[in-house]
Amino acid sequence: MHSKKSILSIFMAMALMFLAACGGGNNASTGTESKTNTEEETKEAGVVNLYTSRHYETDDALFAKFTEETGIEVNVVKGEEDELMERLTREGEATEADLFYTADAGRLHWAKEKQLLQSVESETLSKNIPENYRDVDNEWFGITKRARVIVYAKDRVKPEDLSTYEALTEPQWKDKVLIRSSDNIYNQSLLASFISLHGEDEAKNWAQGIVNNMARDPEGGDRDQAKAVVAGEGDVAVMNTYYYGQLLNSEDPEEVKVAEQLGVFFPNQETDGTHVNVSGVGVTKHAKNKENAIKFIEFLSSEEAQGEFSEANYEFPVNPAVEPSELLASWGEFKAQDINMSELGKYNADALKMMNEVGWK
Ligand SMILES: [Fe+2]
Repeated sequence: MHSKKSILSIFMAMALMFLAACGGGNNASTGTESKTNTEEETKEAGVVNLYTSRHYETDDALFAKFTEETGIEVNVVKGEEDELMERLTREGEATEADLFYTADAGRLHWAKEKQLLQSVESETLSKNIPENYRDVDNEWFGITKRARVIVYAKDRVKPEDLSTYEALTEPQWKDKVLIRSSDNIYNQSLLASFISLHGEDEAKNWAQGIVNNMARDPEGGDRDQAKAVVAGEGDVAVMNTYYYGQLLNSEDPEEVKVAEQLGVFFPNQETDGTHVNVSGVGVTKHAKNKENAIKFIEFLSSEEAQGEFSEANYEFPVNPAVEPSELLASWGEFKAQDINMSELGKYNADALKMMNEVGWK
């Protein structure tokens, strides 16, 4: 049985080679031959291997579109960001990964520090991605922006009651604030941004103040904080904008109801701006398919892909030529923190230490 199978596959391989040879001199005169040519093209276009910690359906659809347009096949390995970075370190030169894609600028900065990435020259990327959303040495590129906002129970809180992240530490919000745990990278980066902007003392006071005002011990993800506000456990929650979009457009009517009872507030508009983070991607240091990897990043920064991120995953485009989707635009323009994204990585360890010290679970 086994040997019959291998004889058969040798025969089939020979037949394919014969067909391909014929196809070369006689372009696409029949359906079969044109199919063979397309397969040949795909083979020539090659592959690109991606390690990603992003977990959104829109990404899979976009990868398929990239393959359709370029013939380059995308092989995806999904995992937790730290796990993937450890894997890249462990694999060293032998790694198959050409790209590392993750949802936090802090982690991208770490990947650079750990020398897991390499610098890339691309006019397209320099044009499509503003300077403050990419690494100074072009070792990683921001692809989408997400704002970490305050959502509030519309029946209990007026937008006039809200102003800044700092104001959430005031006595008025005692036992009213919902926010997820300190092992979450989004909160670590939020606190890192405060260390960068205001120094350690002020940042630590803020973290302490938030712990004092928490409605409960942190549990669940961003969407769970929103649900807890609607359930009356607290009045306000800190969450990323795209999670609100996901709730509002959910197939689960209960989730839609949750979103409808919440308002979205962009804090710190009169001061230093709302905290913004990026999802981004870099070419790995030992990429075997560097050209394809660059083409892949260029595709993600294109108007086509940027529009998709905004429409289907409720993320803000980094490409200034692309307008945010209707939902995102309906929240109005907002001022974002003016800090280089690398700062989030630089102060990550300090932020985490601080959170432990103030008892942020
Ligand atoms: Fe997320």
